[in-house]
Amino acid sequence: MKFVRNTWYPLVWSHDVGRSLITRKLFGEDLLLYRTESGSVAAMLDLCPHRLAPLSMGRLKGDAVECGYHGMTFGADGRCTRIPGQPIIGAKSGIKTYPTAERMGLIWVWLGDQSSADPKRIFSLAQHDDPNWCITYGDALRIDANYLNLADNLCDPSHVTFVHPTTLGNSAGENVPVQNRDIEDGVLVWRWIKSAPVIPFFAQYGSFDGPVDRWHYYYYHAPCVAVIDFGTIASNKTVSEDERGRGLQMFACHLITPVDENTCVDHWLTVRNFSLNDDAASERIHADLRIAFNEDKSILEAIQRKEAQYPDFRRVTLGVDAAPHRMRRKVDAMIAAETERAA
Ligand code: FES
Ligand SMILES: [Fe+2]
Repeated sequence: MKFVRNTWYPLVWSHDVGRSLITRKLFGEDLLLYRTESGSVAAMLDLCPHRLAPLSMGRLKGDAVECGYHGMTFGADGRCTRIPGQPIIGAKSGIKTYPTAERMGLIWVWLGDQSSADPKRIFSLAQHDDPNWCITYGDALRIDANYLNLADNLCDPSHVTFVHPTTLGNSAGENVPVQNRDIEDGVLVWRWIKSAPVIPFFAQYGSFDGPVDRWHYYYYHAPCVAVIDFGTIASNKTVSEDERGRGLQMFACHLITPVDENTCVDHWLTVRNFSLNDDAASERIHADLRIAFNEDKSILEAIQRKEAQYPDFRRVTLGVDAAPHRMRRKVDAMIAAETERAA
């Protein structure tokens, strides 16, 4: 499976990594994770180099992992520090480790060339660290679909009317075309739906007694981060594009782990500027989003099964595919650039 190597991948919620051995898969590679005594996160291949026992079946001893089969022991840097009954440790007895960093409530891992693993390159939403915004962490939603099929969905506001009619959409949006353009590391897709009835989702959080304008700005930062800025404001309040924060505004962030060719995990969280410090609102919002994201999951998993059944089917291309195609070209270009550099 071809993928961008030199990038940070979101892998697991920070709060799920502690002083025990856990595993996660990334592009088919089994990774073992744990926190060291100082609180940093170690990530290594979950594979003992002796007989290939998963190290996750062993024990954490201080900052080291002891294999559960014959006790080979590895430090958090992957170096072998002990072979029971054998005084000499060969130079090649270590195990591969991966750089990690924490950002936006997640552990991110770098699979590529370690000399360029700069945590400053990890995606970060400014509002996530701003006390005037309310952050609520959602789920790690497993979807049995290729991560780029999920990425297609997250570059495609036109599906909202049809997939999420009771939560995020209404028929007012049906015929409003979407626009798209390149951004530095990805694609932006957006549309405004003007003078429409307020959708049920926002009706709960603002008092709207007339028509509203509603926006969707879908930012896709290739290869694995999507941020959906959506919100609403009364149509009689004139706002420019840059003043969206005057309305009810929410960022739904999707930080995607490509598990393997047919599976991904969507770690989602929200950042909003209304109903701050209101836990009941957070719960309601997330209950609604959970329904909506499971609607995406259903259709994406069904598509994945059909793709396997009809691998050579010639598809019809629609106008709404422009942004997903742009996104895929970006990912392909990133992979091609890496291949070229390696050659
Ligand atoms: S398999 Fe790990 S020490 Fe033998
Ligand atoms: Fe959706």
